[in-house]
Amino acid sequence: MTTEGDGRPVYSVTRKGEVIVAPSHLGFLLTDQPKIDRRLRIASVTRDKSDTSWTQPWGEWRTIRDNHKEMRVRLLETSALGRSFDVVFRIQDDGVGFRYEFPQTPAGTVTNIGDELTEFNFGGDGTAWWKPAFLWNREEYLYNRTALSAIGTADTPMTVKLASGTHVAVHEAALVDYAGMTLRHTTGNGFQATLTPGSTAAKVVKTGAWMTPWRTLIITDDAPGIYMSHLMLNLNEPNKLGDVSWVKPGKFNGVWWNMIKGDWTWARGPKHGATTDNVKRYIDFAAANNIQGVLVEGWNVGWDGDWFGNGNDMNFSQPTADFDAKALQQYAKSKKVYIIGHHETGGSASHYANQFDSAFKYAADHGIPTVKTGYVTDAGQIERVDADGSKHREWHEGQWMSNHYLDVLKAAAKYKVAIDTHEPIKGTGLHRTYPNWVAREGSRGMEYNAWEGKNPPEHEANLVFTRMLEGPMDFTPGVLSLTGQNNSPIESTIAKQLALYVVLYSPVVMAADTPENYAKYPGPMKFIRDVPTDWEDTRVLNGEVGDYVTIARKARGGRDWFLGSVTDENPRTLTVDLGFLDAGRTYVAEVYRDGPGADWKTDARHSIAIEQKRVKKGDRLTLALAPGGGHAIRFRAR
Ligand code: NOJ
Ligand code: CA
Repeated sequence: MTTEGDGRPVYSVTRKGEVIVAPSHLGFLLTDQPKIDRRLRIASVTRDKSDTSWTQPWGEWRTIRDNHKEMRVRLLETSALGRSFDVVFRIQDDGVGFRYEFPQTPAGTVTNIGDELTEFNFGGDGTAWWKPAFLWNREEYLYNRTALSAIGTADTPMTVKLASGTHVAVHEAALVDYAGMTLRHTTGNGFQATLTPGSTAAKVVKTGAWMTPWRTLIITDDAPGIYMSHLMLNLNEPNKLGDVSWVKPGKFNGVWWNMIKGDWTWARGPKHGATTDNVKRYIDFAAANNIQGVLVEGWNVGWDGDWFGNGNDMNFSQPTADFDAKALQQYAKSKKVYIIGHHETGGSASHYANQFDSAFKYAADHGIPTVKTGYVTDAGQIERVDADGSKHREWHEGQWMSNHYLDVLKAAAKYKVAIDTHEPIKGTGLHRTYPNWVAREGSRGMEYNAWEGKNPPEHEANLVFTRMLEGPMDFTPGVLSLTGQNNSPIESTIAKQLALYVVLYSPVVMAADTPENYAKYPGPMKFIRDVPTDWEDTRVLNGEVGDYVTIARKARGGRDWFLGSVTDENPRTLTVDLGFLDAGRTYVAEVYRDGPGADWKTDARHSIAIEQKRVKKGDRLTLALAPGGGHAIRFRAR
């Protein structure tokens, strides 16, 4: 880091002799003061380093190593304003994070941030995978694959493969009391941070000392390396909740797919899904299939009207008359299953906040360990109501909502409830600090396969190297019927649906299809029964963004390994080395692979072959993936 002639601070990032980020400016626009980005001098530079390890209560890896170097640069304005701030860099082998800190701002002083002037000027062009920012459907867009220099304004994580082959993922860590960052293309290979708006002129308002989230760049030789990085988690604060043994990783089914397809309704009436009888059947199915939870949506009073963008009728502690909550709680308990509740706010965030205590007490009283939340409304249309009754419209990724989502977690934690957020703010590693934040949506999940305009076969190979860098995603895999509304075909094979249980990580994972459909596929269903959702270790064995990926994971507290491999629309033969298996053990590989003629484009998408073979560490396996296909294996330790 240095300053240019006019005292403009710039940073750059070089790795193995390659310029990743060419000199890029830093600074802020303020709405009520001159901007801070020139006439600055470096007052001091201090360095530090640290090499420690920490444990995840649940996750993809039990142990995470945090080996980094730190550099803190203090900048001081040479003008009469005399303002001062620090830029703190943390460098790991696989990337760098930096953030601004204003530790000297006096208590009570209000800082009104108009925007951040942080630049990311890439050293060269490359191919980028990105989603457009600021559009009405929030994060639920397909990924574009374009030249870096052809991007408009992108959400993060944005992943880039430079011409040299080096991979870079730009994102942020620890987004707390601040607005989410997007990347606006400037000129050439340049980008500038653009913060998500709020309901006032300043995008972020801070009082007293303040700091930004970490701006992060994961930089690795290849795509698998990007996924394996722990940079984001390491830049978050340790667990603030203490003992979280009440957070329950596990699988769930639910009264859901029939609603998403339009066969049942959330609202009361003749097609109401969340009836006592329906839920009992789902509980029976869960109990018979090693599924721990049953999600119920539309169980509460308030869904009857037009709830899209208006959740002001929602009552999160009053079930509908045809949903016998107490009886179902007891029935579930007798079958060693629990209910997962749903809180759809319709974007009425303040209305929800007013019910936190009653809603989470209700959950705790009814044996509900996990609640799914939802904020279905267009971008910029979250309803905020202040104490004086004034109404404001906020963005899902703005500063006000960054606080709301954390308030939900804290309120839920008081009642030992975990949260799975739909229509969320992006994931920035806060599940380290609040381990009851078990999952979130934040991209196009399985629901899009119920509707017109389905996820294309490359979607999951995109997700792994983009969205999944944010942490767990509630994608809701496992639709073995491979059909959405009106029997419309889903662009996948059955083996791929199984592989998603390993490839798309979440500690709470849905078996999204209906019990009636699962009954038609007893062979593949065994994999869903066997696969765990919490892991000791994870290895990305191969992959190219948007093309294919293979991931192996070891069951937490167990000896079995599981492997998932998925491809895009192209068939592929991949050879994997089973070097990850434990030495000195033999395994029975229970293989679920694309069967004869399997192809996402034809009725043969249901073709699957299930077979067993003995394997050991060091063996090599050839995986043949059909177009739109996949491969799933349980390595059962003997
Ligand atoms: C959208 C969510 O993603 C989906 O899972 C949920 O069922 C509906 N909203 C209704 O809340
Ligand atoms: Ca959604």
